[in-house]
Amino acid sequence: MAYNNNNKHHSYTPFSLLSIVIILCVSFCVIEARSPFACDPKNGLTRSLKFCRPSVPIHVRVWDLIGRLTLQEKIRLLVNNAAAVPRLGIQGYEWWSEALHGVSNVGPGVKFGGAFRGATSFPQVITTAASFNESLWEAIGRVVSDEARAMYNGGQAGLTYWSPNVNIFRDPRWGRGQETPGEDPVLAGKYAARYVRGLQGTAAGNRLKVAACCKHYTAYDLDNWKGVDRFHFNARVSQQDLADTYNVPFKACVVQGKVASVMCSYNQVNGKPTCADPDLLKNTIRGKWGLNGYIVSDCDSVGVLFDNQHYTSTPEEAAADTIKAGLDLNCGPFLAIHTEQAVRRGLVREADVNNALANTITVQMRLGMFDGEPSAQPYGNLGPRDVCTPTHQQLALEAARQGIVLLQNRKSSLPLSTRRHRTIAVIGPNSDVTVTMIGNYAGVACGYTSPLQGIGRYAKTIHQAGCSGVACNGNQQFGAAEAAARQADATVLVMGLDQSIEAEFKDRVGLLLPGHQQELVTRVARASRGPTVLVLMSGGPIDVSFAKNDPRISAILWAGYPGQAGGTAIADILFGTTNPGGKLPMTWYPQNYVEKVPMTNMNMRANPSIGYPGRTYRFYEGPVVFSFGQGLSYTKFTQSLAQAPKDVLIPLSSIRGFTNSTLSSIRGFTNSTMLTNGVRVKHKKCTTLSLGVDIDVQNTGTMDGTHTLLVFSTPPSGAWSKNKQLVGFEKVHVAAGSKQRVRIGIHACKHLSVVDNFGIRRIPMGKHKLQIGDLKHSISVQSNLQEIKT
Ligand SMILES: *[C@@H]1O[C@H](CO)[C@@H](O)[C@H](O)[C@H]1NC(C)=O
Ligand SMILES: *[C@@H]1O[C@H](CO)[C@@H](O)[C@H](O)[C@H]1NC(C)=O
Ligand SMILES: *[C@@H]1O[C@H](CO)[C@@H](O)[C@H](O)[C@H]1NC(C)=O
Repeated sequence: MAYNNNNKHHSYTPFSLLSIVIILCVSFCVIEARSPFACDPKNGLTRSLKFCRPSVPIHVRVWDLIGRLTLQEKIRLLVNNAAAVPRLGIQGYEWWSEALHGVSNVGPGVKFGGAFRGATSFPQVITTAASFNESLWEAIGRVVSDEARAMYNGGQAGLTYWSPNVNIFRDPRWGRGQETPGEDPVLAGKYAARYVRGLQGTAAGNRLKVAACCKHYTAYDLDNWKGVDRFHFNARVSQQDLADTYNVPFKACVVQGKVASVMCSYNQVNGKPTCADPDLLKNTIRGKWGLNGYIVSDCDSVGVLFDNQHYTSTPEEAAADTIKAGLDLNCGPFLAIHTEQAVRRGLVREADVNNALANTITVQMRLGMFDGEPSAQPYGNLGPRDVCTPTHQQLALEAARQGIVLLQNRKSSLPLSTRRHRTIAVIGPNSDVTVTMIGNYAGVACGYTSPLQGIGRYAKTIHQAGCSGVACNGNQQFGAAEAAARQADATVLVMGLDQSIEAEFKDRVGLLLPGHQQELVTRVARASRGPTVLVLMSGGPIDVSFAKNDPRISAILWAGYPGQAGGTAIADILFGTTNPGGKLPMTWYPQNYVEKVPMTNMNMRANPSIGYPGRTYRFYEGPVVFSFGQGLSYTKFTQSLAQAPKDVLIPLSSIRGFTNSTLSSIRGFTNSTMLTNGVRVKHKKCTTLSLGVDIDVQNTGTMDGTHTLLVFSTPPSGAWSKNKQLVGFEKVHVAAGSKQRVRIGIHACKHLSVVDNFGIRRIPMGKHKLQIGDLKHSISVQSNLQEIKT
């Protein structure tokens, strides 16, 4: 979403009179104040119109309404700040609300105040992703949408949320990596589908609890790096990387998550602005993936493609190109200003405008916005008492506990003991922070527990910030910090980053701790009487090799941005009332990695001929500080393979375009592409090829704990990719001394396939190697030529 300085989207969004009335009412009226958006039963003129009748099928209602609108009225509905149509009893609507990890007031659709002073603020997404717990992701979505509905009923929020952000965390410097579920496409796809399900609900009949939106489509993961900004960046992306990396989470979001919206990004992909590319929008999202919902632009990105990228010579052409490409809604005023002229000049047909409106209005109808009185509808009873409930806040704490990652634990120095560690020196610029813990795209939290407060529940604390902020420009306070460490039984340093270092429109230039932080850590560790624990708060990875290699630093914990209850969760882990189980959702590279890799190079795969090392654990094989999937526990787990298929038969009916002649070319070995590189996957026929792998997990230690099984697969040698790829994961709780069997579902077509140079997904025939920790297993994949012959 935009904080674009030269485009003033806030200025055209006059806070509607209606909203002001509602806010006044929430402050001064006792009753909740949302009046019907449309189809008010008290409005005798409109309540009987066909589009107002819930018993009529939605598509009929949608086209009935569109048929009543004038061109001017239609055009004012193409923007986030959609105008009212008073003669049809329809109020204005602000489409832009955000709920990345809690109801957020980053968009103009949400206002805190009155009866709604805050909302449950969950950990930032990168932390939540580290839990590798799909049911947690969905549970968070359910809580967030309960609170969103409650705030909607109270007139303080919309029903259309432009969350989640599912771009691949491609480069460790990206300022918005914190918002994403990490670097792996399968992980990001599962996160997208589950969080969206939680938000949108699973009600029958196409109804939506709230409408989610997967953004920013596609290949958007550079904000502002060495003078290259997202408004001008042309991402040069191969068809292969697009199909097996960048688009994977979006496809999962639409196909599995059934999301109600996708947002196109600011950047260009291969010379075309994403919001004006019919191949990306109309053909792919709507055509191939079957989006049932609307496509929205990033904020002002239609303006950006005209003003900044000079993609068309007139603004009318820009408007026409985006609508024709499949854009349905513009965040920003551009389409409201220029579409009428574009229609009059014949650049775009009114029918195209109608189709765009059909997509947005359908979503509004699925949300119940045309069904009259909100209080009489599903979720109509949710109100202020359903926000920040103890249960919701407990889930925020639980999410932080599940997401925090123990990266190092020398000689089992953690957990600390309340008996032996009675006094703790709590040091560092992030040791007593609140809003830092919720990261960006946050709202107003229900309340906070800082690390200092959390630790204070277990032990006496001596607090020293060490530096006045994370920039840590001077070392004047280091002496006092060392003195504190000398007096205490153990030392906890809470260091890292915040939004002044990594943020929207702010990519990092390096991976080291900012300013003098490293010096503070080293000096305090040297002065410390007891064990020294380094706790890192950050969205992106930090090169902390110095600490990893310093024998005086006993343990390293990554908390990400752990949300409103982050301090409690950190303390619970430090003192062992919670056994850590999080795993890193991204690679932690050494600083010299970024010196070799321009952020503008979108290639995932290594290119040794130019010294390009490739990106993420899937393609990069150089040294790391901590690797994808890393994360320790206070107990010990062993894994053994209980059952896994040795052979998989791919029915030839699942091969696209299979005919007897392709069969004969396979038989006659005339088509080497097919033989060596595999058969093309036709996904619709491939749904039955689900393989179950059973693994026994034994907790051989003395503490109950959760273990995350990560299953990687490597295709047969000779296929295009020699690299391993995450194909499934499962999290399991195992009591000390006991054993659990875990089934991991692997989808042959989705997970054992690889993408060729043309972006086509194929299943290579031959031995696929599965790897689960130390366990290795081969699956031989063959097609069933025999069966076809009979
Ligand atoms: C393919 O060829 C076999 C015989 O070789 C024949 O029986 C079968 O009907 C053919 N299938 C199609 C779809 O043409
Ligand atoms: C072999 O298969 C590839 C990919 O399906 C196709 O492009 C090519 O034309 C085929 N070649 C022959 C000789 O059939
Ligand atoms: C996953 O999260 C849910 C919700 O917090 C929790 O009930 C469940 O125990 C978690 N699963 C594991 C294996 O920890």
